[in-house]
Amino acid sequence: AALGPVPFRDLCGVRPVSDVTTRSADNKLWLQRYQGTWVLESWVPGIMAIQRSFVPRRGDVVLGSPPKCGTTWLKALAFANMSRAAYPPAHPEHPLLRLNPHDCVPFMELLFATGTRKESKMNALPSPRLMNTHMQHSILPASVTTDQNLDCKIVYICREPKDMLVSLWHYTRRALPDVSSFLDVFEPACEGKCLCGPIWDHVLGYWNASKASPEKVLFLRYEDLLSDPVENVRKLARFVGQPFSVSEEEAGVLMDIVRLCSFDKLKNLEVNSADPSSDFANDWYFRKGEVGDWANHMTPDMARRLDAIVEEKLSGSGLSF
Ligand code: A3P
Repeated sequence: AALGPVPFRDLCGVRPVSDVTTRSADNKLWLQRYQGTWVLESWVPGIMAIQRSFVPRRGDVVLGSPPKCGTTWLKALAFANMSRAAYPPAHPEHPLLRLNPHDCVPFMELLFATGTRKESKMNALPSPRLMNTHMQHSILPASVTTDQNLDCKIVYICREPKDMLVSLWHYTRRALPDVSSFLDVFEPACEGKCLCGPIWDHVLGYWNASKASPEKVLFLRYEDLLSDPVENVRKLARFVGQPFSVSEEEAGVLMDIVRLCSFDKLKNLEVNSADPSSDFANDWYFRKGEVGDWANHMTPDMARRLDAIVEEKLSGSGLSF
């Protein structure tokens, strides 16, 4: 039987994702409208290639998220979970102790962007494959989304939109020095224009899919993961068809995974530390890891405005933040 996913970097010798490669030559973040969604211009070729040629396989798990909603954490948790037979989470040489989670789980848009050479790397990955995307549900290929195809499952994570925007602003500011004011991110986002936005469409697409087909799409929230990581990791394991056995629970395997992937543990690893010699470093993925940081950046009026927009967009869906 397959032992679970292998770190992409170990298999392919290259970094599967560096968000910084999405920086354009003139150092600007160019958003492009693509089939009703806002995406980075540099991701479009990859998205088109995914739509054209991604063939799901039995056992595939696609991690979906808007940026800055806990993608790195979900990658770590899903990887540690699915590969626990090969890499026990308490092992002193666990891959997540020497590799950033983005080195373990490839980012589809960039992987497919560079054409067949990398695409074939995706095809060469042994099953079960684990990968992530920021694409909205509406633009995923039908081969991935069709309810009948349970071979390929989707685990989605979202986050309270105000906190997501604050996190996005901090991240973008580090990548692009010309983004200075929070309003540069906030104002367009209220109109729906932000990376992978509109935010409400991103969340609603996966929410509706998870309601229609709960065995196909698992819908998680960053805040729930923070308040009860154990129960959510248990849910994740069950969903991907690898529930924890009684003996694993008794041996503390689940707790070991939660500890290994915790903010403090990952942030303080050498591989995830700041690198002053580079214009990008893994520490960018680990900032505060808290709920409610929006209050340090938004006035009550701004918060009310975004809350009202989101509430209106989500009304009738059964989803709220
Ligand atoms: P903050 O900027 O609010 O601190 P993404 O991985 O999608 O880019 O999301 C990044 C956000 O997740 C950042 O939020 C980051 O600090 C937080 N994060 C990263 N790893 C985490 C972990 N292991 N546990 C909790 N939060 C984490």
